[in-house]
Amino acid sequence: LRVLISGGTGQLGRELLRTRPAGHVVQAPGQADVDISSAASVERAVAGFAPALVINAAAYTAVDAAEGDREAAFRVNADGAANVARAAARCGARLVHVSTDFVFDGEAGRPYAPNAAPRPLGAYGESKARGEQAVREILPDRSLVLRTSWLYAAHGRNFVLTMLKLMRERQVINVVCDQIGCPTWANSLAAAIWAFVARGEVSGIYHWSDAGAASWYDFACAVREQALAIGLLASAGEVVPILTRDYPTAARRPPYSVLDCSASWAVLGHRPRHWREALNAMLCELGESPHA
Ligand SMILES: NC(=O)c1ccc[n+]([C@@H]2O[C@H](COP(=O)([O-])OP(=O)(O)OC[C@H]3O[C@@H](n4cnc5c(N)ncnc54)[C@H](OP(=O)(O)O)[C@@H]3O)[C@@H](O)[C@H]2O)c1
Repeated sequence: LRVLISGGTGQLGRELLRTRPAGHVVQAPGQADVDISSAASVERAVAGFAPALVINAAAYTAVDAAEGDREAAFRVNADGAANVARAAARCGARLVHVSTDFVFDGEAGRPYAPNAAPRPLGAYGESKARGEQAVREILPDRSLVLRTSWLYAAHGRNFVLTMLKLMRERQVINVVCDQIGCPTWANSLAAAIWAFVARGEVSGIYHWSDAGAASWYDFACAVREQALAIGLLASAGEVVPILTRDYPTAARRPPYSVLDCSASWAVLGHRPRHWREALNAMLCELGESPHA
């Protein structure tokens, strides 16, 4: 299978490339080579490579910055997603498009099913919801929209690497304990995407995260505990729970955004690891190659 991955240098893009199954011919250009906010740029890449599958891992992911620059977020997450879908449609390719738990407001109090109505709280979530809609309209029978949550990897900008840095630098790290979601290793998501690809014709909206649920505080405590246990940190600052209202940010975040992934488990015939196990695997990897 010829597979084009847009956003190839992001957390997910890199993990997709790393876990690509043997036999696929994969191109994973970064933003410098394929800018999805330019229809011409996407068109050129797709026409030149003629993929049978496009995976859109490119996104404007700066949740707080998006509040101050809605246009930039919509240019990539909404118009960019539509550009990718149109280019895929033109060359007869299928599309896997990645989206987010932030399309929900987090007020439901129970895991969100894929058909729950999106109600984003901020510009990032709104732009991602618009992108999902465009993809489903342009390629109704040949697109898989896969929502995920709280992504991290041994590289890139993410909560785990930020916590490790803060734990080295500070005595005390305040972390919010009243936002609940599910941490997901980009490597787990990449493997799930390849498993969906292997199933062939799956179309529609699905959810995938690692198993379990946690607050950012729980997540930070697990990072600390595990990093100390494997010797990634020699000592670490203390993690202290605080409330969202005591940690103001530009964007509002959903208080509870766990995704109900059972439809994906049924399609793929397997369940993900618990997020703590996935975190441990990532930290061990980081320990072996600290500059990954
Ligand atoms: N990170 C999370 O916690 C999270 C949670 C739920 C869902 N998601 C979704 O998961 C997907 C992958 O996220 P990620 O964590 O891998 O994000 P990431 O590490 O920020 O990677 C996104 C990539 O997209 C690139 N990009 C930005 N604008 C682009 C453009 N106009 N054209 C082409 N590429 C562009 C970025 O390039 P630069 O680095 O050069 O800007 C970056 O390499 C996204 O759809 C995201 O919305 C993420």
